[in-house]
Amino acid sequence: MKHPLADRFDGAATILAEIDARVPDDRQHAADTRKVVDTYHPKRLHLAVTEIIDETATSKTFRLANPDGTSLPPFLAGQYVNVFIDDTSRPFALSSSPARLDHYDLTVRRVPNGRISNLLIDTVRVGEILTTTGPMGTFHHNPLFHGDEVLFLAGGSGVTPAMSMIREIADRRSGRRFHLIYGSRSDDDIVFRDELDSLSTEHPGIRVDHVIGWPTKGWSGPTGMLTAETITALAGSLNSRMTYVCGPQALYPYALSQLTVLGQPRRRIRFEANGAPANPVAQPHWPSGVDPNEQITVTAGATSFRTPRKRPLLDALEDNGIRPEVGCRSGECSLCRVRIIKGDVHHAEEAKLRLSDEKSGYTHSCVAYPLTDVEIDL
Ligand code: FES
Repeated sequence: MKHPLADRFDGAATILAEIDARVPDDRQHAADTRKVVDTYHPKRLHLAVTEIIDETATSKTFRLANPDGTSLPPFLAGQYVNVFIDDTSRPFALSSSPARLDHYDLTVRRVPNGRISNLLIDTVRVGEILTTTGPMGTFHHNPLFHGDEVLFLAGGSGVTPAMSMIREIADRRSGRRFHLIYGSRSDDDIVFRDELDSLSTEHPGIRVDHVIGWPTKGWSGPTGMLTAETITALAGSLNSRMTYVCGPQALYPYALSQLTVLGQPRRRIRFEANGAPANPVAQPHWPSGVDPNEQITVTAGATSFRTPRKRPLLDALEDNGIRPEVGCRSGECSLCRVRIIKGDVHHAEEAKLRLSDEKSGYTHSCVAYPLTDVEIDL
């Protein structure tokens, strides 16, 4: 009998034939392999909150560890875990060093209307168990392509992956050169200020500059936005130095415009994916005349519900008790893929869809917006 997937993807029939032709796995060998994979790439972790550190008036670090004290799975500085809470989840970058696997640190900042960030800050206590994914994400240093000298532009809580990278350089005493230019609202608001300043004093390869939007009276350092002029004054000529950018969504187009003024090629700029677009309707390819507030019907198997067009499909599914697998919530990892059987969705610019996904009707539900009544296959 023909396999149901055989006609769905280009090349599926060939792959299925190869699977049929393979020598069956020795069961013990397969179980051993699965155990190793799960150790290094666990789908879920259940971690105890061992400490909560007040970083600033608006941010806290949650220190997480295995309840039995065993070592945590390895990760690359810059990666995140997705935290499951309140029937949904949010990715948070690890701020601890990958050289120390007795704990993971998640540094969370209070944001206006930030449902999950604020919930974590207000309700999580030492001793609680948090469920997370294993570490994931592609926003990390790649020595082959990024070189040994990088510039990192951070805004607000976007400093957390930079902190992990800096702590790693210090712990491993690597020869990498890392320059952080960190924009904060005020000098009271700088997360990790003391540690950043002491690490940059102790390690010649680490440099940290703070740029303050609304400084207090005693501040004598750079002020304002991360403009091209400020970047040049602090970092000199970029010479195509790999530049990482992480911060609130508004930072990305702004940083891109400033780096472009400085002649930085786009391929030498890396942005950390940071959530679904705040306003999908503002994206140029949102179809004109389509009301984002109008309710449409989503059907998933036996469940049907109404949702406004402007709500990401993943959020709408979760609102209705349906939980696809999920990771980045930013269109990048593809874990939240669903297939659109009927109807149209708007794929946000953030959706990193493979050609085969598009051809076969798949969408990344975290950054997809139903435009018409849709029927989906989970
Ligand atoms: S959760 Fe990663 S692409 Fe949607």
